[in-house]
Amino acid sequence: MLSFLTAPMVHWPEVIMTYDAADKALFSADAFGRFGTPDDGAPWEDEARRYYIGIVGKYGVQVQAVLKKCAALDIAVICPLHGPALTGDIDRYVSLYDTWSSYKPEEEGVLIAYTSVYGHTREAAETLRGMLAAKGCNVLLYDLARSDLSEAVAQAFRMSKLVLASTTYNAGLFPRMETFIEALCERGFQKRTVALIENGSWAPMAGKVMKGMLEGCKDIAWTETTVRIVSALNEASLAQIEALVEELS
Ligand SMILES: Cc1cc2nc3c(=O)[nH]c(=O)nc-3n(C[C@H](O)[C@H](O)[C@H](O)COP(=O)(O)O)c2cc1C
Repeated sequence: MLSFLTAPMVHWPEVIMTYDAADKALFSADAFGRFGTPDDGAPWEDEARRYYIGIVGKYGVQVQAVLKKCAALDIAVICPLHGPALTGDIDRYVSLYDTWSSYKPEEEGVLIAYTSVYGHTREAAETLRGMLAAKGCNVLLYDLARSDLSEAVAQAFRMSKLVLASTTYNAGLFPRMETFIEALCERGFQKRTVALIENGSWAPMAGKVMKGMLEGCKDIAWTETTVRIVSALNEASLAQIEALVEELS
């Protein structure tokens, strides 16, 4: 017997999932899908997270609604439109979808995302990474001009803390940082600790602009320390990085 579950905005308006009780199969449309082909052997988690955050992420409320409907079903196999059919530990897939769609961090850890023209902001970001790692923190570092943006965005949702480090660029942000923050906001980034590292040589604006862009995001805990660099690290800005390490670790 087939039954049908409406799943509006997961992630198109007219989506309907189908449940086949004979095989305990849920044909889940875009939910539980991942990038890649069914037989490419890619791990589901990373590519499903990147797919979810990138494409479905804005619709957490709607995903929560459909998860409630799915909870009543006995599911042995999930057949999404993208990627492989999922068998085995179905609860693990459902639990990750519950985490992602409720915007909770998946892991305790720090993601540092930076942009840098001449290398000084990179040096600050790498220094911070080294100090956090030395304290045993789980830390990821992304150069936004040289990374896959969708991966950096998905990992920012995975981690509990985010550090944004940007040069000031024509009284605004280096473009890749602007795009990155826009992508976070569009997808409902929230419930995270955020710290800022600003660099500027004559009229630093990066910190103010980054904070302003994230103003509409819910439940952001700002660190007390903002690192302010004038062109290159010096004693004062290094001391601010040390203070930030204490707050984040
Ligand atoms: C195209 C361009 C525009 C810039 N605009 C500003 C600015 O508006 N205000 C400012 O204080 N610094 C500005 N700067 C200086 C950079 O912010 C500074 O050189 C940079 O923060 C140094 O960090 P980096 O070594 O990581 O690139 C600009 C630099 C470039 C290349």
